[in-house]
Amino acid sequence: MSDTLVDAPSTAKQDAVLECRGLIAGHGSVTVVREFDLSLSAGSVLAILGPNGAGKTTVMSTLAGLIPRLGGDVLVAGTSLPSARPGAANRAGLVLVSDDRALFTSLTVRENIQIARKSGGPDLDAVLDMFPALKKRLKVTAGAISGGEQQMLAVARALVQKPKVLLIDEMSMGLAPVIVEDLLPMVRRIADETGAVVVLVEQHVRLALEVADEAIVIVHGDVRLRGSAAELSADPEMLEAAYLGETESAAT
Ligand SMILES: Nc1ncnc2c1ncn2[C@@H]1O[C@H](COP(=O)(O)OP(=O)(O)O)[C@@H](O)[C@H]1O
Ligand SMILES: [Mg+2]
Repeated sequence: MSDTLVDAPSTAKQDAVLECRGLIAGHGSVTVVREFDLSLSAGSVLAILGPNGAGKTTVMSTLAGLIPRLGGDVLVAGTSLPSARPGAANRAGLVLVSDDRALFTSLTVRENIQIARKSGGPDLDAVLDMFPALKKRLKVTAGAISGGEQQMLAVARALVQKPKVLLIDEMSMGLAPVIVEDLLPMVRRIADETGAVVVLVEQHVRLALEVADEAIVIVHGDVRLRGSAAELSADPEMLEAAYLGETESAAT
């Protein structure tokens, strides 16, 4: 195994849109994810991989300001975010699509998108170009559309907020693999076309690595593996070993 892939702190990029410096995430006094660093520039996609309970959602909630961080800094476009202030994180351009999708199920698809829109954000038509399937469903309530369509709607609601950083937690939760194969390439398109940084927590490892630029594997709160998506997908055995906890973390 190449040393370069093991928890090597990424060098801070000059034009980083999202940076984490020594981030410690957890619940109350319980540390879940130990210090880690990230530096992502515009239009890049990071996949956060790892088994259930590893701390992926804890990291996403911390980035979004939903729970206080236990240490370290989070910066969006060079500006440090206050801890546990979801409104401030959102104003700085950070938008979370949580794993429960958080839709207004009794409102229509159109209403769900309209109430999420921020002034200056893309309008309904621009977002629907990205999700043609939703065009036919505009008058249907969000509770009555399919799981795949609900996920598209959740992402559409995020896009009309004009994110600089889009956090997507387990987009594929509860969806058939064939639907996930359709949805994930959309993530690549969003990063390419809007320049947003996308952080994707995903259980479908192979599909996630196809659309990501970089990936990290978190196991029991430690970053066990870090590398380019191409390097990681070329070495499935190393990935599997990381999941099983057989690699040594370099953070000694
Ligand atoms: N609200 C919470 N309060 C206390 N502990 C939590 C809470 N949510 C998650 N945890 C714990 O934090 C750890 C990581 O959970 P989580 O971030 O949800 O993992 P993942 O998203 O990788 O499956 C688990 O041990 C889980 O039990
Ligand atoms: Mg989770």
